Amino acid sequence: QTNERESMYLVSEFAQKYFSEVLWEREQGKAIGLSYFKERGFTEDTIKKFDLGYCLDQWDGFTKAALNKGYQLNYLEKTGLTIVKDDAADKDNKKTFDRFKGRVMFPIHSMSGRVLGFGGRILTNDKKAAKYLNSPESDIYHKSKVLYGIYFAKQAIAKEDNCYLVEGYTDVIQMYQRGIHNVVSSSGTALTADQIRLINRLTKNITVLFDGDAAGLRASLRGIDLILEQGMNVKVCTFPEGEDPDSFSKNNDYEDVVLYLQENSKDFIQFKASLLVEEAANDPIKRADTVRDIVNSISKIPDRIQKEIYIQECAQIMNISEAVLFNTLAQIGKKDV
Ligand code: CTP
Ligand code: MN
Ligand code: MN
Ligand code: MN
Ligand code: MN
Repeated sequence: QTNERESMYLVSEFAQKYFSEVLWEREQGKAIGLSYFKERGFTEDTIKKFDLGYCLDQWDGFTKAALNKGYQLNYLEKTGLTIVKDDAADKDNKKTFDRFKGRVMFPIHSMSGRVLGFGGRILTNDKKAAKYLNSPESDIYHKSKVLYGIYFAKQAIAKEDNCYLVEGYTDVIQMYQRGIHNVVSSSGTALTADQIRLINRLTKNITVLFDGDAAGLRASLRGIDLILEQGMNVKVCTFPEGEDPDSFSKNNDYEDVVLYLQENSKDFIQFKASLLVEEAANDPIKRADTVRDIVNSISKIPDRIQKEIYIQECAQIMNISEAVLFNTLAQIGKKDV
């Protein structure tokens, strides 16, 4: 089992090096992959720092290269780098395909810097194909336990005593390039307790940055309760309509990004209470639900004094009596909603 996993690490490391070599050395890699990253505003240093790469638009160019180097098909398949299918024409034969064919590659590193898996972005505007394709779950890649960028961010997270949590790969990279290094991403998946634990070892403070597309906002608020449960302090910051931390950091200089983050980061409970009030303005039944919703979040906070302070603040924000909120909190405590 240990050897199996080691073999998977080795083939992943080879893949990362191969995809980077293609990006920097091969005509197609330079013309398509490297120019794509440069058009996005990534510098050569940044592209190297994050070990970005390109998988040629060929059926099995990568797989063949790996097999030629002596890596076993078994591990190529287990890491998901190669898709193996039966050959309809010849049942003794198997067909192999590069999973990431024609995509720019974002390697996903562990806390200690080993390559666990990849995200691959499509370069066309083909709406039928997924914009990002990720490595499948495997013995070395558990997507609920990794945070993209953690290897590059860990020192800065501890030093700044704060961690920015963003939605995507390019948000991490562009903010890093802009000079804000304490950034990680859950890469489009719902936040998990394990991911938060990785951050919790480095700091008690998280600032969640939301794309300015509102769609994901409401759904993501739930996941934040998991951060509160671990006794961490949570702030949230939204971006202007149509912008995400990537585009915002690309279009503004360091001082302006830092200032924006400072001015727009809000305490999570206050932010959520205000948002709920807006949504339920003239609907008494909806208002009752929002009261339960916010008290439910508050109930996750381990510290009793903090809980009490938040109840007082939310009573003001939601224009409701503290007594009602305390009662709701007590009920939740009994039922464990
Ligand atoms: N994601 C994914 N699969 C998709 C779409 C998104 O895994 N089909 C994940 C990726 O990790 C992506 C993140 O969700 O980085 C955020 O999604 P989105 O905001 O749509 O993408 P961006 O990161 O902004 O990517 P880009 O700027 O390249 O469009
Ligand atoms: Mn495992
Ligand atoms: Mn988004
Ligand atoms: Mn985005
Ligand atoms: Mn984006």
